[in-house]
Amino acid sequence: MHLPSTLGFLAAIAAPLAAAVDPLEVQGRYFVNPKSGNRFQIIGIDYQPGGAAGYDPSKGKDPLSDKDHCLRDAALMQVLGVNTIRVYNLDPNLNHDDCASIFNAAGMYMIIDVNSPLPGEALTSYNPWESYHEGYLNRTFAIVEAFKSYPNTLLFFSGNEVIDRPESAEFGPRYIRAVTRDLKNYIKKHSQRYIPVGYSAADVRDILWDSWNYFTCRIKGEKDDESRADVFGLNSYSWCGDATFESSTFKDLVDGFKDTSVPIFFSEFGCNEVTPRLFTEIAAIYGDKMTGVFSGGMVYEYTQEENNYGLVELDSDGNAKLLQDYNTLAKQYAALDFDALYSQKPGSDTPDPVTCDAKLITQKGFDKNFTIPEMPHDNSAKILSAGVKPAPSGKIVPVTDLATPHKVVDVDGKELSGVAIKAVADNGWNRPGVNTAFEIGAAAAGGNSTSKEDAGAFLRPTVLALALPLFAYLV
Ligand SMILES: *[C@@H]1O[C@H](CO)[C@@H](O)[C@H](O)[C@H]1NC(C)=O
Ligand SMILES: *[C@@H]1O[C@H](CO)[C@@H](O)[C@H](O)[C@H]1NC(C)=O
Ligand SMILES: *[C@@H]1O[C@H](CO)[C@@H](O)[C@H](O)[C@H]1NC(C)=O
Repeated sequence: MHLPSTLGFLAAIAAPLAAAVDPLEVQGRYFVNPKSGNRFQIIGIDYQPGGAAGYDPSKGKDPLSDKDHCLRDAALMQVLGVNTIRVYNLDPNLNHDDCASIFNAAGMYMIIDVNSPLPGEALTSYNPWESYHEGYLNRTFAIVEAFKSYPNTLLFFSGNEVIDRPESAEFGPRYIRAVTRDLKNYIKKHSQRYIPVGYSAADVRDILWDSWNYFTCRIKGEKDDESRADVFGLNSYSWCGDATFESSTFKDLVDGFKDTSVPIFFSEFGCNEVTPRLFTEIAAIYGDKMTGVFSGGMVYEYTQEENNYGLVELDSDGNAKLLQDYNTLAKQYAALDFDALYSQKPGSDTPDPVTCDAKLITQKGFDKNFTIPEMPHDNSAKILSAGVKPAPSGKIVPVTDLATPHKVVDVDGKELSGVAIKAVADNGWNRPGVNTAFEIGAAAAGGNSTSKEDAGAFLRPTVLALALPLFAYLV
């Protein structure tokens, strides 16, 4: 690709900034940069371009293996101001160096799910012992190998919504703890730095508190709390439209989690019952009432898919169109006080973990057995001790191209020129204002409706009006 000489020059001086972000640690119930001592709040986006089909090992495809796509998406996310992405489905055997380095240079961390929806690549909700075997564990360890060397790998999720109703909670919890233990032991043995492991829970209130207690309690006599989750993520869609801290039940979440011994954050949020979305929850999540207990969260989700949660619409050539929700979210982030957020210190108020006990479990049918299953009696233990063979590996590489090769248009269809990532200063966390490649457009009418009724009424004509031009854009 031809680069204008000034860009080439910028790229050359950007290269030494390749190691941009410091690895983070969990200290008590906080994410902390051990170098600066500052607390880290996740200001994130769930990154799942193409939905589940965006991961296809038979085609050598996953969301972090195409450099040009990552350049485009990292630039658009950087302008928004986010500092973390979550990626659900990854192939450990693909090369992720360019993408990991691009997000790193742009001041963003990665939360990595070790599982995938393909058979044999996740723990099943029912009869979980059938899916807990060498092939599965080897895959999860291979994901660790592939991502352990990037400084911006923030944590691994050992499971996502494996239990989503009381019926799937009879045996699932102890197997999730088993996988968490195996991953933690693998990381301790084979990674130069410890990377936290946690669980991402569905916000099903019947089982939420039992899940949280089950995964974060300390099993008496267990060395190093080896099966205990280091963090707890919550996929919550209870703040819809112009809700409040109380009406959204976020207050109940804060009250319920107030004695947490591990970092809590939203691994997904962004209800779309009211569209366009208002994202008024941003002010709450990063405000005084929540930051003491929560460590931020991730908006579901970057790309527009069939389920209509997107911030950006991609066409089959890789060109991008910003959606109304992108602009609205940008405005909400821009209104936060990042100087204050990024200079917070962790509190010294983390309680000791509670001791695991059947009495913690309140829901009938939820697992009360804290005898965690042994590793399967195949080669799993051998793989854990000797390491995955052959082991995938990853390393930060210089980021020389900064500009997206794809076309990007704004909400009105106007082409945006000069969309590129901007390398952040060393140890820099991305935030609004770091990358001002373009100006965020105005929120359209309806982007700030004050009642659900108004917004609902707005929805139908908008969908109709948008359908044609959007279709034209896609073809
Ligand atoms: C383990 O994972 C590696 C890397 O993906 C793969 O090459 C190897 O075949 C796997 N081994 C087993 C036993 O599944
Ligand atoms: C508890 O789970 C373990 C396996 O993790 C199993 O061996 C044991 O029988 C279970 N105990 C009860 C009372 O079901
Ligand atoms: C919506 O409009 C009201 C009144 O004009 C204003 O106070 C509020 O800040 C706006 N909210 C957003 C999300 O722009």
